[in-house]
Amino acid sequence: MNYIEEQIISIGKIRIENHLADIGIDAVKEEIIKGLCAPEKYISSKFFYDEKGSRLFEQITQLDEYYPTRTEKSILSTFIKNANINFQNLSIIELGSGDSSKIKLLLKQIPVELLKSIRYFPVDISQSAILKSSEELIKEFDLESITGIVADFVHQFSVLPKAGKRLFCFFGSTIGNFTKKEQNRFITELGNEMQTGDAFLLGMDMVKDITVLENAYNDIKGVTAAFNKNILNVINLLCNANFNVDDFEHIAFYNQAENRIEMHLKALKEMDISLNSGLDTLHFIKGEKIHTENSHKFTDKDVEIIGEYGNFHLKNVFTDKNKWFKLVYFEKK
Ligand code: SAH
Ligand code: AVI
Repeated sequence: MNYIEEQIISIGKIRIENHLADIGIDAVKEEIIKGLCAPEKYISSKFFYDEKGSRLFEQITQLDEYYPTRTEKSILSTFIKNANINFQNLSIIELGSGDSSKIKLLLKQIPVELLKSIRYFPVDISQSAILKSSEELIKEFDLESITGIVADFVHQFSVLPKAGKRLFCFFGSTIGNFTKKEQNRFITELGNEMQTGDAFLLGMDMVKDITVLENAYNDIKGVTAAFNKNILNVINLLCNANFNVDDFEHIAFYNQAENRIEMHLKALKEMDISLNSGLDTLHFIKGEKIHTENSHKFTDKDVEIIGEYGNFHLKNVFTDKNKWFKLVYFEKK
């Protein structure tokens, strides 16, 4: 995560803009330290996704226990014929695009003549993920252009492309990683950003049996545990800290009152952690936890609420046979 250097990379039809330097490393350190000094320690889940974290997330998506990716993909691979989307000259903006494997499934269903008029804008905090996926995509699809935007989609709405008719995609139920307050603010901002006729395709993981949910975040191979612990390596780099991942245990459970999976890291012993190369110290008692992720699960009522916050028409809802995952198609009023 490069918060220091402004960067633009141009390779043929691919252009990548890194806007993270506009936030700046000092603001990022301040955000992290505020969370770690709170009475109940937390770290934002956006810090999972350095190069190793993005790779571990891709491994998670292949796990038997992690049903959301294959379920959403099964919906994405066939929904177009029933969606009535006009792709001519469309700008597709994908928030939290990751490995872009989901947009591929959508692009595969679009006729070649139309693909040539499409501009694709992957937006992600992970430059490595954007670079790798853009290179793969341009080999497979003859698109008009790909402009990768490395940015924090919570704080940097202003860097999103404005021109043309736009389809915003937000897959993976990544919206569930926001708190309810962040979610409402995000949807309100997105709704304000969108013009009449723009559309929003949103992936939402639904409330279901607790065992299915808890198994998805406690896989037998320990990939989710490695993903969770890796956040401490990212914090070590960003804050010149000395966390040892082996001193923490991965915890994930379903909080039924909040309809969410929570991930935490639990200290296995009492310890002091040095921050800012020793200028600051952080104390942990044995058993103390750092809250690293919320993954909210949704109900049909939540779909309605999102439509209201964004001032959207709810045009279509696509789902799987178990109704485990919903792909919701909104248009701006
Ligand atoms: N859409 C993909 C990836 C989901 S993982 C899928 O459905 O499989 C979540 C993605 O969002 C990661 O690639 C991560 O780097 C990105 N991300 C998380 N928080 C972000 C933020 N605040 N700003 C930009 N990208 C973010
Ligand atoms: C990206 N996000 C929607 C994933 C989720 O399920 O909340 C991240 C993840 N965390 C643990 N496993 C996967």
